Amino acid sequence: MNIVEEIKKLKEEKNAVILAHYYQRDEIQEVADFVGDSLALAQWAAKTDADILVVCGVNFMGETAKILCPDKKVLIPDNTAGCSLADSCKADDLAEFIKQYPGYKVVSYVNTTAEVKALTDVVVTSSNAKEIVESFPKDEKIIFGPDRNLGSYINSVTGREMVVWDGACDVHEQFSLQKIKELKEQNPDAEVLAHPECKKHILIVADKVGSTAALLNYAIKSDCKKFIVATESGILFKMRQSCPDKEFIPAPPEDSTCACNECAFMKYNTLEKLYDALKNEKHEVFVDEEIREKAVISIQRMLDISEKLKL
Ligand code: 13P
Ligand code: SF4
Repeated sequence: MNIVEEIKKLKEEKNAVILAHYYQRDEIQEVADFVGDSLALAQWAAKTDADILVVCGVNFMGETAKILCPDKKVLIPDNTAGCSLADSCKADDLAEFIKQYPGYKVVSYVNTTAEVKALTDVVVTSSNAKEIVESFPKDEKIIFGPDRNLGSYINSVTGREMVVWDGACDVHEQFSLQKIKELKEQNPDAEVLAHPECKKHILIVADKVGSTAALLNYAIKSDCKKFIVATESGILFKMRQSCPDKEFIPAPPEDSTCACNECAFMKYNTLEKLYDALKNEKHEVFVDEEIREKAVISIQRMLDISEKLKL
């Protein structure tokens, strides 16, 4: 059996689309109808007229799609694909935290559970966090969660003093400054690209800080021919595909056995699991309706602001 051909056939038969995040395995990105960052996946999910969406990413991405498309069947190849960042912010803990800051608006990163989004005024992704925070009046009091690195980066570029939740992505926190400096010494003509979920000492040495889509677009447009990439290494597939004449070097984590940095959760999804989920309509995503009705407001606000600002 040619699994790629079978997946394509099933997609036609079932009027299904496959959405994949840039951190997915190369072969999943190849078979997907759409590959993008978290913002683009939500935007795509909101406008598709397919009957079935197979979201190749982690659980919160499947939930976001389901919240936006309650009448569609949303499947995820492996429903154990969690996220250390989403896990670092439990809804009950956030609700207690919010009580300590009456009158504050709650801005949450998309890497959160549906329950956290239901407690949120507006959701952001790394593609639009700066602009959405800036859309609030200068003196607006804001709680930002759960990523402490993204939160303090947004504080630094906007001059705001948001109260930042103390959560982080285990993958992005692992990049080694020492190893990036060594790579830069060996490749003085290379530029460093970093995702804002990385620690501040990595962001300081970066030539460009941005979401996966922003880093990709920067690499495409830049005159530079070589890049050291400090985000999950799945993005290298699209970077190499989009810029065959440029060199992309993955930034390594502290752990000396690895040359690149992978999110284990993102790699739970395989072509076989994707085929199985689509064929047998397995691992359907469900979101409690009461939670969904609240969560959709904060996600829709994000989409509306992004559309207005053409993000
Ligand atoms: P973006 O897709 O917004 O770049 O976020 C990266 C990420 O960590 C997704 O899990
Ligand atoms: Fe979560 Fe980090 Fe993996 Fe993204 S890379 S899914 S934030 S653990």
